[in-house]
Amino acid sequence: MSFPWAKNYEPQQPLMKWLDAKLPLPRLVYNAIGAGYPVPRNLNYFWNFGVLAGAALAIQIITGIVLAMHYAANAGVAFNSVEHIMRDVNAGWFLRYAHMNGASMFFIVVYLHIFRGLYYGSYKAPREMVWLLGVVIFLLMMATAFMGYVLPWGQMSFWGAQVITGFFSAIPAVGDPIRVWLLGGFAPDNAALNRFFSLHYLLPFVIAGVIILHIWALHIPGSSNPTGIEVKDEQDTVPFHPYYTAKDGFGLGVFLMIFVALTFFSPNLLGHPDNYIPANPLSTPAHIVPEWYFWPFYAILRAFTFNFLWIDAKLWGVIAMFAAIALLFFLPWLDSSPVKSSNYRPLNRIFFWILVVDVFILGYCGKSPAEQPYVILSQLCAAYYFAHFLIILPIISRIERPLPMPNSITEAVLAKNADASSAPATA
Ligand code: HEM
Repeated sequence: MSFPWAKNYEPQQPLMKWLDAKLPLPRLVYNAIGAGYPVPRNLNYFWNFGVLAGAALAIQIITGIVLAMHYAANAGVAFNSVEHIMRDVNAGWFLRYAHMNGASMFFIVVYLHIFRGLYYGSYKAPREMVWLLGVVIFLLMMATAFMGYVLPWGQMSFWGAQVITGFFSAIPAVGDPIRVWLLGGFAPDNAALNRFFSLHYLLPFVIAGVIILHIWALHIPGSSNPTGIEVKDEQDTVPFHPYYTAKDGFGLGVFLMIFVALTFFSPNLLGHPDNYIPANPLSTPAHIVPEWYFWPFYAILRAFTFNFLWIDAKLWGVIAMFAAIALLFFLPWLDSSPVKSSNYRPLNRIFFWILVVDVFILGYCGKSPAEQPYVILSQLCAAYYFAHFLIILPIISRIERPLPMPNSITEAVLAKNADASSAPATA
């Protein structure tokens, strides 16, 4: 940790002294999330979502491991094994619904975490590596969720796998062999189900490993904050424990209440009813849709309806969808403004909110059938998405005149408190 005033760990009890000498685990925890980690004193609730994402991953791993004890990864019995979990296994319905809705909660908090980063410029130096590792985590999460959705072997599982792996065949010459290699056959079947299960079990642990790197990279500069001004002295910080353990604990309570309400009262709200029909390769559903968290990307994938520059529309769709995520890797260099927080960037703030609306419209189009007006709308919104990152952001980061900024985090906090205390008292 680079803060010179960070407290040193001094074990008190003999057992802790012994452990610290042999394996300094308590020291590691103390310096990472304890009183030895100074954090800006002005973090708002948007800084809760990293910890909540970690909690969501833990819930997914625990429920997933127990589900795997009862699930059978065989195309002949997979669907029935999930029904067996729901009906016969003790609390099996709860495990399954918690895992299903846990995936949605995971994506909700990670999307909020990403958009927090976009608004407050958390991706900028000196935290570029934190952001880059975050994008890697996001890609791994998408792969894990896609493969997980195939496992119950319902209609959407099968046809989702069919459509998504089908896009690989758009790659000229090598596309078809790649698809057959990925699936282990000419269509999703037992081989595909087995490898998807194996990877779906493995990837969350890879994600956990990348999270350790993500937090390690964060601990080098320390957290940013809503002003975007870097910490200057001890006054600007408070120890992580007890201040942010309490604040994150409160956030975790709210998160769990929403999660539990969804799991117990409306467990199928975010799912698709067709996935309660066993997979049938001979009956294509009228309308194949992925899970909600993929809708914006699915809209971009389907936005190309015409061949262009001798490249097939389908291939353009695949390129655009991967590019939509890949461009996030370049974000720290696309936005050259020295000011991080959009609180002081009036133009960036406006375009940030336009981007949010754009992504929501893309999501709506991804959920809707591939017909007008959704096709034209997804084309416009996909074009805007790319324009935002590749044209608008680089331009506004050069021409924008930021608002006056406080000199330090403490000055910003004290000014806010002074405003509050000088406000007229109400009866
Ligand atoms: C499993 C997924 C993830 C976990 C568990 C996780 C965890 C965390 C934690 C604990 C923090 C510190 C607390 C906070 O700022 O909220 C953090 C910060 C950060 N994360 Fe993540 N993260 C995840 C995914 C991502 C993704 C997908 C991105 C971006 C694409 C990302 C970008 C960042 C950035 C830029 C920061 C620094 C924020 C700042 O200090 O301003 N993270 N993350």
